[in-house]
Amino acid sequence: MQFSILVSFLFCSLALAIQPIEVKGNAFFVNGSKERFFIRGVDYQPGGSSDLFDPLADKTTCERDIKYFKELGLNTIRVYSIDNTADHDDCMEQLADAGIYVILDVNIPYASIARDDGECSYNTMYLNEVLATVKLMAKYNNTLGYFAANEVINDDESTGVAPYVKAVVRDMKTFIKNTGLRKIPVGYSAADVKENRLETAHYFNCGDDEMARVDMFGFNDYSWCVNPRPFTEVESIYSTDMSSVFSGGLVYEYSEESNKYGLVKISSDNKTVSTNDDFDNLKAEFKKTENPKGDGEYQADLKYSECPTNSSTWEAKEKVPSTPKGALKYIKGYKDPKGTGFKATTQWACTAKGNDDDDSDKYKKGGSSSSSSSSSSSGSGSSSDSPSSGSSSSKSSDAFTIKPSKAYLGVLLTTIGIFFGLIWGLLLD
Ligand SMILES: *[C@@H]1O[C@H](CO)[C@@H](O)[C@H](O)[C@H]1NC(C)=O
Ligand SMILES: *[C@@H]1O[C@H](CO)[C@@H](O)[C@H](O)[C@H]1NC(C)=O
Ligand SMILES: *[C@@H]1O[C@H](CO)[C@@H](O)[C@H](O)[C@H]1NC(C)=O
Ligand SMILES: *[C@@H]1O[C@H](CO)[C@@H](O)[C@H](O)[C@H]1NC(C)=O
Repeated sequence: MQFSILVSFLFCSLALAIQPIEVKGNAFFVNGSKERFFIRGVDYQPGGSSDLFDPLADKTTCERDIKYFKELGLNTIRVYSIDNTADHDDCMEQLADAGIYVILDVNIPYASIARDDGECSYNTMYLNEVLATVKLMAKYNNTLGYFAANEVINDDESTGVAPYVKAVVRDMKTFIKNTGLRKIPVGYSAADVKENRLETAHYFNCGDDEMARVDMFGFNDYSWCVNPRPFTEVESIYSTDMSSVFSGGLVYEYSEESNKYGLVKISSDNKTVSTNDDFDNLKAEFKKTENPKGDGEYQADLKYSECPTNSSTWEAKEKVPSTPKGALKYIKGYKDPKGTGFKATTQWACTAKGNDDDDSDKYKKGGSSSSSSSSSSSGSGSSSDSPSSGSSSSKSSDAFTIKPSKAYLGVLLTTIGIFFGLIWGLLLD
């Protein structure tokens, strides 16, 4: 009896002690420590994207799964969608107790940038949803970072949408700054498109506007997609061959969905979990692979990238569109964004009332936050290249070819077999 009380007491004090992760140079560090933080993670979205379910709002679900995260030795999960009207205290606390951080994608399927109409889908109503999610989750020390978007560019023809995604990065970072939230890293998670993977990385890390450049860059690598997966790449990813550039990765994915890349199967009544061969293989690989010692030869003083030049496979404009003026009241911190949860649909809302009217002054006097460092110059967004839509997925299967020997600027992550790597920094050479 006394023993178990003691044990839970110890867990409590650990939970209280979870420190935020911060970016220094091209790497993650636990705040206040000289020790590098390497992500050992999995993607976590039971039910998949077709049947949206918020795994961080359901105490029973996270309770069921956290013991498997611990068994794998994880320190991070990535969640693709949450309900920004729900309460996440319980799960975030349970995860913190287990020493587990969360990387969160801020979009849901119909409240996101549309690759075939970046210009219209980047609107006030959309930013309200995204910023509400940012604000909601920023209060947890174990919110590691946010992805502004995932795989919006998914072939060599959808690159014209990139400026809109970069605009979302800028707006999120500006909102975090203006509202005095903790400096939570914001990034983009890129598809493995062999024609432009390097341009994509450079693009999100280029230009004079520091707020528009990502803090972390994730790369979804579709290599090693055999079944079962041996996960032998783990030994390389957590070696000094890669650690000067990469900061670990996240395995796609925890629960088995229709595409069969799950570490575990969840029973149809959701009560029980059974592990697959992939689970055992990953566990064994993590167990025998230590992180590089100390700072893993991270790079402290990299310069940001040159923006890629226009070509037949890269047609994104360098100029990032201005914030829709209706969203300035949120970004300046004068009015709190308020999400509407999974029912939000915003991709059409460039025509919504007030989308491009700056009414921020109306909210200013009641507002408590510091004033903006001018989050956007005026003028409406530049016109979109409107590349025709891609439902086409160009999943190239050739191996990841960015040689991580040189400087990357920013944090680089990878997806583990599919290994998601957090690339802190882009290849400069
Ligand atoms: C969150 O981190 C800060 C330091 O950055 C620390 O002072 C605080 O105790 C932490 N809170 C929790 C609940 O872990
Ligand atoms: C790190 O901790 C210090 C002191 O506790 C705090 O002032 C700072 O905001 C923290 N940084 C991040 C990125 O959390
Ligand atoms: C089981 O969980 C999934 C999400 O993982 C949810 O969509 C579904 O409704 C749940 N089913 C039952 C029977 O609770
Ligand atoms: C970019 O390159 C493509 C193909 O090379 C060309 O069709 C297009 O006009 C170029 N755009 C600009 C703005 O130069």
